[in-house]
Parts: sequence; structure tokens; C-alpha cells
Amino acid sequence: MRNVAGQVSIVATGAPGHRRGLTASAVCSLTDEPPTLLVCINRNAAAHDLIIAHRAFSVNALAAGQEAIAHVFSGMAGITGEQRFATGTWSVGATGVPVLAAAVCQLECRLDDYKEASSHTVFFGHVVAGTASTEASALIYHRGSYIGLGEPCDENADVEPPRAASGTSGK
Ligand SMILES: Cc1cc2nc3c(=O)[nH]c(=O)nc-3n(C[C@H](O)[C@H](O)[C@H](O)COP(=O)(O)O)c2cc1C
Repeated sequence: MRNVAGQVSIVATGAPGHRRGLTASAVCSLTDEPPTLLVCINRNAAAHDLIIAHRAFSVNALAAGQEAIAHVFSGMAGITGEQRFATGTWSVGATGVPVLAAAVCQLECRLDDYKEASSHTVFFGHVVAGTASTEASALIYHRGSYIGLGEPCDENADVEPPRAASGTSGK
């Protein structure tokens, strides 16, 4: 699993004073129409039951440079619950859930459905509000390290399909 690189997000829910959030890489765009994503959350995570109670959550895709936020919300800094929201600039989104400034995107979801899968629950969220930055680079987690995504590849580089060497038919 360490070899599967993933974009790092903070999944957050709850109202000011009783917010919960966690670092999550198990986030996936599901359908464009209707705009739906899924997130996989451990049943022991503090945000888990609050997502169900609140029936809404935000997915805040972190930008390169926001590693400190990922660290705090992963529990590695020993900070829990509402105190995590002292790291980063958080406000209240249109649906009442916490949203993070300077993220690559903030997507607010209404909880459509959820399904238990061993230790985790897969939450299906209908995206009802959001903002996105066209400037920020994504933060990736790979083999235990945070990596800021670099510049896009040159669109002309390395896109030619490999050609068979002359004189070889492949048969
Ligand atoms: C890069 C990274 C990705 C993670 N992805 C997930 C995830 O997708 N789902 C999940 O339940 N926990 C994930 N975790 C673990 C949670 O962030 C961590 O257990 C957190 O402390 C849970 O919040 P809690 O302490 O409030 O329960 C991830 C941790 C890291 C460092």
C-alpha cells in the first residue's frame, strides 16, 4: 500500500466548537453527473460518527506546503478534536461544515449513503458547494513522505508511442 501514491486531503465535519477532522488519502471522485465522491474513514476516527450525525462533510485537498496541517490532522502531533482546527485557516462553508483556506479545492458534500467495509466505512458524498485554486500544486503522500507535486509535464514530451525497431516484426 505504501507504494500507492495518493493526494492528501482533510475530511472535516461538525459545527464550530465541535468540529472533527482527519487526514485522508482514501478519497476518490466517483461521478461527474451528479457530482459525487467517496471517502473511506476508519470507524474509530473521531469524525466518523459525526459525519453520519451531521449528514455532511468537506474534502479539502491540501496544497504543497500544507504538510503541517496533514501532520496535525493525522494525529501524529498528539493534537485531537477541535484543537486541530487551530492549524490552518478554517471557516464555515455553505453547508455548515469546516472548509480550509488555500487548499487546492474545498468540496462540501451532503452525505448520500454509506457502506461498512471491514474496519472502514465508505461515505458517498454529493458535492453541493466548492471552490478550487488553479494555481496551487497538490500534496501527495508516497512511501511515508509528503511530496509537493511539481510542474505539469511538458505536453509534448514522451507522448510518442514506442515504435518497433526496424527489421523486427514482433512475430
Ligand atoms: C497520509 C495519510 C493518509 C491517511 N488516510 C486515511 C484515510 O483515508 N482514512 C482514514 O480513516 N484514515 C486515514 N489516515 C489516518 C488518520 O488521519 C488518523 O488515524 C487520524 O488520527 C484519525 O483521526 P482521529 O485521531 O481524530 O480519530 C491517514 C493518515 C495519513 C498520514
